Amino acid sequence: MAESAPPTQAISPVGAENHLLFRREGFVALVQINRPRVRNALNEALLTDLVAHLEILDRDPDVRVIVLTGDDQAFAAGADIAEMADLTSVEMAFGSRLALWHRLGATRKPLIAAVAGYALGGGNELAMACDLVVAAESARFGQPEINLGIIPGAGGTQRLVRVVGKARAMELVLTGRMMTADEAFAIGLITKVVPNELYLVEALRLAHLIAAKPPLAVQVAKDAVLKAYDTTLETGLAYERASFNVLFSTEDRREGMTAFLEKRAPAFKGR
Ligand code: CAA
Repeated sequence: MAESAPPTQAISPVGAENHLLFRREGFVALVQINRPRVRNALNEALLTDLVAHLEILDRDPDVRVIVLTGDDQAFAAGADIAEMADLTSVEMAFGSRLALWHRLGATRKPLIAAVAGYALGGGNELAMACDLVVAAESARFGQPEINLGIIPGAGGTQRLVRVVGKARAMELVLTGRMMTADEAFAIGLITKVVPNELYLVEALRLAHLIAAKPPLAVQVAKDAVLKAYDTTLETGLAYERASFNVLFSTEDRREGMTAFLEKRAPAFKGR
């Protein structure tokens, strides 16, 4: 793992169809969904490349935080309805979509969604699969699947309930209505709302802030917080304690405490 931040790289396309763009800024990786003509609808090829690329970044020791964004009109307007229109239950059940979402949920490094415009259906589920969500005032969140005769299929009925509670999740899922960024913030779905021109700037600022922290502790912290979703309090507390103990073996833990006692800035190495 590099001890000083790697150089910033220019934007480069990912995948045969250029439906993703990628850029590095030091320890921060920026991945942009790039299907503007269909409001960044997530077809299977895009989702496959996105997940494969996130797995590469997750393994890259020079990447500490990943920012995922769309464009000013849409983060992602959900699954590609044209692609789904003729699928059968069997094709849906035995296709690779569910497995892709499962792999995405296994990302160990922090994922920050930088959202402007629409985050609907699978787009909202993608934002919810991220660890922090920074939204422009223009952002609109929702699970409109009910209008298509289906239900959310990538966590919308489950993550939404855990984050905002049954009463609000039920209303959103049953009516399919869109929420403003301010409402999404008020119900705890997103981290913060900023003026339209600042959503990516603010997401990158947060990313760099987190990238300057000890990387192993950051990953363990993410893992422990996510554990709270699917355990009892007692099991979660035991998991937290075990995770806490493990970090005492890291060089960065020693460096952090030594630097504090020596009244100097720590130099973390990700070891
Ligand atoms: N899939 C495929 N194409 C889409 C799309 C989607 N999810 N969302 C938008 N598009 C396409 C439109 O068909 C349109 O294409 P054409 O120019 O060829 O007609 C283009 O993007 C622009 O869309 P609009 O003209 O509708 O743009 P708008 O600004 O008036 O509205 C919108 C934007 C509110 C996002 C509207 O397009 C919309 O409601 N989209 C569908 C949203 C939706 O239902 N998402 C859920 C999908 S199901 C799902 O995600 C399942 C799951 O959980 C896994």
